Amino acid sequence: MCETQANGASDLLDLLHIDLEADGEDTRTRRDNTECSKNVLRKQRNWKRQLAAKKSKRKDEKQRRRIHRAQESSPHTDHPQFTKRVLKAITKERLAEAQTTGLRLCVDLSMTDCMSDKEISRLAGQLRRLYGSNRRAAQPFHLILTDLREDTQLYRECVRMNDGFLNYTMETTQQNCLDLFPPEAVVYLTPDAEEALQTVDADKVYVLGGLVDESIQKKLSLSRARELSVRTARLPIDEHMVKRNNVKNFHSKILAVNQVFDILLTFSETGSWTQALQAWFPAGKGYVISSGCSALPAPAQSQDDG
Ligand SMILES: C[S@@+](CC[C@H](N)C(=O)[O-])C[C@H]1O[C@@H](n2cnc3c(N)ncnc32)[C@H](O)[C@@H]1O
Repeated sequence: MCETQANGASDLLDLLHIDLEADGEDTRTRRDNTECSKNVLRKQRNWKRQLAAKKSKRKDEKQRRRIHRAQESSPHTDHPQFTKRVLKAITKERLAEAQTTGLRLCVDLSMTDCMSDKEISRLAGQLRRLYGSNRRAAQPFHLILTDLREDTQLYRECVRMNDGFLNYTMETTQQNCLDLFPPEAVVYLTPDAEEALQTVDADKVYVLGGLVDESIQKKLSLSRARELSVRTARLPIDEHMVKRNNVKNFHSKILAVNQVFDILLTFSETGSWTQALQAWFPAGKGYVISSGCSALPAPAQSQDDG
């Protein structure tokens, strides 16, 4: 082949190559455009869903704050004329009185062996919050930390992390709840109980399992209650709440000890499970008060609004 012919053929091939590439690019561009619009649609759909979830969360938070504000008629706001020192003394006195007359609640700390160091630290923090809620309450509970030994990591964490832990107005003991109370008086609260808690009675002793659930150890508190052969009860979540759709499709009825305690405190003050759950059930757990239940305080004679 002469040089001119060879050059011509090579030019033709180059042209064909460019055309083929151009065709390929067109198809790719079309495919990219389709992919792109699919992605845009998917993003728009997700964005709308997130917006709706945020809106509903904001609404819940607003309602929650409203209830909290209504409940803020604690001694601190009732007596704005008192100095901090006097208020502290009043609180201390109220807590001390609750240790003889208040509704009784134990936190069973016998299961710390089942927890990691991180979980133990978190439990210490939850106990601080639980105590803080009791301090602020108009009608505090008689609190007892049972099975708490001084040579444990939990005890050390409580002293290290919780200012004034050694002076908390509550009982701490190495004994368990059955060393202190008759078995028929004890109601062990566990999310896995069949029976729903109806009310909170002065002649009963309520026990919370001192557990933090990062590694989710199922039915530990139920087994502990069975070991003690005592009655069990769960919070009446199914009776007052329904699942709410959420992006992660996450629903859980397992709460932290301080959250369960806040619910019990509000129920004992208002007599309304709806109000107590509305105020304290964490928004992220995927449940809302069912539409048939009103969050207004229950009539005075009613202990339960379900
Ligand atoms: C984080 S939970 C522990 C969950 C753990 N998986 C268990 O075995 O129960 C800590 C404690 O809070 C109380 N608790 C949490 N959610 C509850 C619910 N829905 N009803 C009753 N008690 C609950 C129980 O006393 C429980 O032992």
